[in-house]
Amino acid sequence: MSFAMNRLGNVQSSASAGISLKAKAMRVEGKSVIDLGLGEPDFDTPVHVIEAAYEAAKAGQTRYPPTSGTVALKKAIIEKFKRENALDFKADEIIVSNGAKQVLFTAMMATLESHHEVLACAPNFDSYRNIVSVIGGQFKTIQCSAEYGFCLQPEDLEAAITENTRWLMLNSPSNPAGATYDVAGLKALAAVLQKHPQVLILSDEIYEHIIFDGLSYPSFVAVCPELADRVLTVNGVSKAYAMTGWRIGYGAGPKELISAMVTVQSQVSSGACSIAQAAAVAALTGPQDCVADMREAYERRRNLVVEAIAAIDGLELCTPKGAFYAYIDCSGLFAKKTADGQEIQNDVDFVEFILNEAEVAAVPGHAYGMQGYFRISTASADEVIVEAMERLARAVATLS
Ligand SMILES: Cc1ncc(COP(=O)(O)O)c(C=O)c1O
Repeated sequence: MSFAMNRLGNVQSSASAGISLKAKAMRVEGKSVIDLGLGEPDFDTPVHVIEAAYEAAKAGQTRYPPTSGTVALKKAIIEKFKRENALDFKADEIIVSNGAKQVLFTAMMATLESHHEVLACAPNFDSYRNIVSVIGGQFKTIQCSAEYGFCLQPEDLEAAITENTRWLMLNSPSNPAGATYDVAGLKALAAVLQKHPQVLILSDEIYEHIIFDGLSYPSFVAVCPELADRVLTVNGVSKAYAMTGWRIGYGAGPKELISAMVTVQSQVSSGACSIAQAAAVAALTGPQDCVADMREAYERRRNLVVEAIAAIDGLELCTPKGAFYAYIDCSGLFAKKTADGQEIQNDVDFVEFILNEAEVAAVPGHAYGMQGYFRISTASADEVIVEAMERLARAVATLS
């Protein structure tokens, strides 16, 4: 059988899902692998959300919903933007999709021609590259250094923009580095973008609520309203409400863009599951203390990881300001040898080494567009993280 290799040729399946499969296979063999590969909350979906889904199903909300989202969920999203971001959207400026990932996909599908370039910082969420690749656009990364907390610098953005640049993808707090912009940082990027009207901005705010050290993330378009006619704000319930399996994400932006995305979505999925949408209404409109409790736990776990990594010679961590990952520099251990004489040459070797030696599963940093790092998820119980860090320290100590 032949496949559409011009579309699939450069697409990789999710790196973290691949590592998780490997970890599961090792567990089946009886090994006690700690899986810090996958990026999803370890908490259960709040009970009131599950009950809302059950009630919706019993009440007959089981038919095709409107392609762009149910009236009730769009209303809840509009209220959320008003309450939390001081933003005003109308119903035709909102799309509800099967996860934030589908919002990204439909946005790219609706706007990219083959000569168009999409810019993103490296390191970045690996789906950005793969979605642009499968659609046939050109994905270009701008390397962002730990020195600036992995945040994009305006002069680097200016240097990367060409007449073919169609999108800039911004993600704050970010997967995988927890890079988080402040108002001044966003305004500096906006000043550059103002000079380039051909560039649309996708602001991926899915980790908005998972932010530490008393910071809060200002939504990009609230800080830079002058760019509102070319910003697509992406968010969802997966991370903040521990609802990864419900697959509800949403986008908010100019109505012509949303309308084109709805056209794409009408032929992909006819919208998102009606019952999951009812659950998302309960998440967005119900009690919000679950969000605060989970945020607090992620911050505590972030602190455990920061402390543990600081004590391991050869590893460096730029403290993540949000999200639930640590993107750790392991290049200080390159050229070291394992007890059986294997040389660690790169992040893939290092991740393999810790999987075999420490039985800790992590993802090689190159999957996120930068070499010399590995990513762990901090969305595991405190004691699991402490145990994983102890194993990591013991494994690194065996290198010579
Ligand atoms: C930065 C970022 N954006 C979007 C998503 C996709 O979220 P969803 O589960 O809503 O599709 C993820 C998931 O890992 C992510 O890390």
